[in-house]
Amino acid sequence: MSVKGAEQIITTQRLIDKKQRGEKITMLTSYDYTMARILDSVGIDVILVGDSAANVMAGHETTLPITLDQMIYHAQSVMRAVKRALVVVDLPFGSYQGNSKEALSSAIRIMKESGADAVKLEGGEEIEESVKRILCAGIPIMGHLGLTPQSINKFGTYAVRAREAEEAEKLARDAHLLEELGCFAIVLEKIPAALGKKVAGELKIPMIGIGAGGGVDGQVLVAHDMLGLQQEFSPRFLRRYHNLYAEMKTAFANYVSDVRSGNFPNEKEQY
Ligand code: KIV
Repeated sequence: MSVKGAEQIITTQRLIDKKQRGEKITMLTSYDYTMARILDSVGIDVILVGDSAANVMAGHETTLPITLDQMIYHAQSVMRAVKRALVVVDLPFGSYQGNSKEALSSAIRIMKESGADAVKLEGGEEIEESVKRILCAGIPIMGHLGLTPQSINKFGTYAVRAREAEEAEKLARDAHLLEELGCFAIVLEKIPAALGKKVAGELKIPMIGIGAGGGVDGQVLVAHDMLGLQQEFSPRFLRRYHNLYAEMKTAFANYVSDVRSGNFPNEKEQY
C-alpha cells in the first residue's frame, strides 16, 4: 500500500477549507491502479471508488450486484497508486441498509483491508443510525443524495430527482442532517441546478455535483464516461473530454491487422 506524501495530501478538512476559500473541488472515479495513478498525477482532489464499477467494469445494468469483497478489491488496487488524493469508497448495496452494526462492520472492512480514507453511503434520514455509528468509529463519511442509484428499483427511472417541492425539501433536510451528524461532504446527483446551488449555499461542508449544476462546490463524473469509453450513456450533464472508444477501437484494429499481415513485430521489436 502506498504511503501518501505528507505535505500535499488531501484530507477531509482540506476539502472543507477549499469550500470556504471558494475553490472548486475535483473528483473522478477509478477502480484500478493504472487509472488512479494517472488521476493522482494531475492533482485530482478526490478519487471515488464508486459502485458504478458494477456497470463500467462488470457490465451489470445497475449498481446493485457488486459485493463488498469486490469493492475492497477495487479500493486496494486504487490505493496502491494514490499518493495525494483523498480516496472515498462506496459501501455497496446490501452492506449497510440492514442495520447500523452491519453498516459499521462493512465500513471497517473497507478501511482496514484497503487503507482508503473514507466511505460513501446513499441516503438521508433512513440511514441516520448507520451514519452515526460509522462516524463514532472515526470513519469519515461522504453522503449521497438526489438520484441514488442503489434505490433504482424504488424510483423506477434514472430521471432528474427533486423537481417537486416536497422531494426538494426532503433533500435539503437530509443534507442538513448529514452535516449535523458530521459527514464531511455530500454528492448531489441529478437534481435541478437551483436546488444544488441553494443547498450548497446553506451548508458548510462541500456539495459535489453530478448533474447538479454549476452552483455547487465541486464536480464528479465517472472517468470512463468523460473519456468517451462508451457511447450508449449520454445524459445532459456528461461532458466527453475524449473519444477513447473510437481511439481504442482503431488501435486494436491496427494491431489485429499488423499481426495478421506479419507487420508486427518488425526487426527492431525482436531479440
Ligand atoms: O458510483 C459512482 O460512480 C458514484 C458517482 C456517480 C458519484 O456514486
